[in-house]
Amino acid sequence: METIEAIRSRRSVRRYQETPVSKETIESLLEAAIRAPSAVNRQCWRFVAVTDKEKIAGLAKLNMAFNGWLKDAPAVIVACADPKESTDSNDLPYYMWDAALAMHNLVLAATDKGLGTCYLAAYKEDKVKELLGIPDNIRVVCMTPLGYPAEKVSLGEKLTKAVTGSSKRKPLSEVAHWDKW
Ligand SMILES: Cc1cc2nc3c(=O)[nH]c(=O)nc-3n(C[C@H](O)[C@H](O)[C@H](O)COP(=O)(O)O)c2cc1C
Repeated sequence: METIEAIRSRRSVRRYQETPVSKETIESLLEAAIRAPSAVNRQCWRFVAVTDKEKIAGLAKLNMAFNGWLKDAPAVIVACADPKESTDSNDLPYYMWDAALAMHNLVLAATDKGLGTCYLAAYKEDKVKELLGIPDNIRVVCMTPLGYPAEKVSLGEKLTKAVTGSSKRKPLSEVAHWDKW
């Protein structure tokens, strides 16, 4: 798949087939993740790949109720960062960039392999850390389920799409400027 095709075809997937995602596939996606750029090449990103059903069910409970569908995903990738390893500028912590850019590499590589993903960031971070044994000094930046998309979208997905406006985008004319704002 061409990169632009992966960018265009990616969408948030909120219902998955039961088919497991192999360890090799997950590793190849993590390899894609760590090819991302990072501030001063510090690579402060850390990942937890979760395939244990009970832990995934636990993660679903720690997310906002409308993300309950997460419990049926065959895998979840949790993107973390060590803030002390990164830098910042203008009060913008670069560890967020580092982890998010890596995660988006993973998301696009997953799309390329026919896998679905969906960024999730509304969870109880301290509880996620406790469940997965993530050290105190590490921040959880976001997570995504990983799996082969189910053919039918769930009611939860329909509702979320109604709220978020689905995959609609604001026109370029509204968000991009030339030479001057
Ligand atoms: C930081 C972040 C947090 C998000 N949190 C959620 C979430 O909690 N639940 C959810 O279903 N989707 C979540 N999304 C996915 C967005 O709703 C989705 O990307 C947006 O509606 C555009 O749709 P698309 O990804 O299909 O293009 C999140 C996305 C981002 C980037």
